Amino acid sequence: MRDEPLEDWLNRMLVDNIDLRSPSKDAAREVKRLDKVAKITLLEDGAPIGHLELERRAGAIEFCTVVVDPGHRGRGLSHELVRQGVERADRDPIVAGVALDDLDEQRGVLLFSFTRNAALAATLVAAGFKLRSPRRKWSTLWLIPSSIYNLPFLVRMATVIDRIKRNTPMLLRDRKRFWHQKKNLGDYHMFTLWSPDARAHVHASSEDFADRVDALGMDMVRVTEDSFIQDPAGGEDVRAWDEAE
Ligand SMILES: CC(C)(COP(=O)(O)OP(=O)(O)OC[C@H]1O[C@@H](n2cnc3c(N)ncnc32)[C@H](O)[C@@H]1OP(=O)(O)O)[C@@H](O)C(=O)NCCC(=O)NCCS
Repeated sequence: MRDEPLEDWLNRMLVDNIDLRSPSKDAAREVKRLDKVAKITLLEDGAPIGHLELERRAGAIEFCTVVVDPGHRGRGLSHELVRQGVERADRDPIVAGVALDDLDEQRGVLLFSFTRNAALAATLVAAGFKLRSPRRKWSTLWLIPSSIYNLPFLVRMATVIDRIKRNTPMLLRDRKRFWHQKKNLGDYHMFTLWSPDARAHVHASSEDFADRVDALGMDMVRVTEDSFIQDPAGGEDVRAWDEAE
């Protein structure tokens, strides 16, 4: 058992995984950031072992900073993170940005995630996300294909603004990460999911999750080892992802 605060654990994960965002300048800033962002954090004996952040982008939600502690990888934890993330995005009025009364079965929210990590891609596909191929747009004279063109205009703009905000300080004080991410830009794939499409899947898998804590309005969710979903990824979709690389 390790008594490590979330901000310290996350800082270690961010330093070690340069595909992820830069760590905050210091622990106090990370605490402030974590207070503001919607997140799912998996704990084992009180210690963080998995983490996912849900960031709003003009009405859609991006799954960012998906990370599992190296000592706990390969046990299906990413499935649990994504499953809880989908459920939270769909059912938490604060995250979804709607009034509590509007949380009915008709509404839905667009979820998306960019990754070049094959394990995360497999997990997203297993959760019902679809791989989105790069598209061309007249606004770039059909010259630059990009998967971001699959997103609605405002979501796309919000995502571009987020990347500018994220990359500018990275270029100044975390150059290795910046150039690593730019060099591999073409390897990032976008996955999207319209939350109503996920409901049947998520609710079916929730039935096995006896001691699940309802994530509604909560920032931290505790799970136990027995709670991990055993849900195989769709082989066809994963192959499609590999071929698109
Ligand atoms: C990505 C990450 C979160 C996955 O977490 P994890 O808990 O180890 O993943 P899981 O054990 O849930 O495995 C997920 C699936 O990926 C599959 N998988 C693992 N490695 C794979 C690979 N190289 N190629 C294809 N599929 C792979 C697993 O078989 C599993 O599918 P299954 O459940 O159908 O068997 C973890 O590896 C991590 O933290 N990586 C560093 C941070 C990172 O790169 N995050 C992504 C940001 S873009």
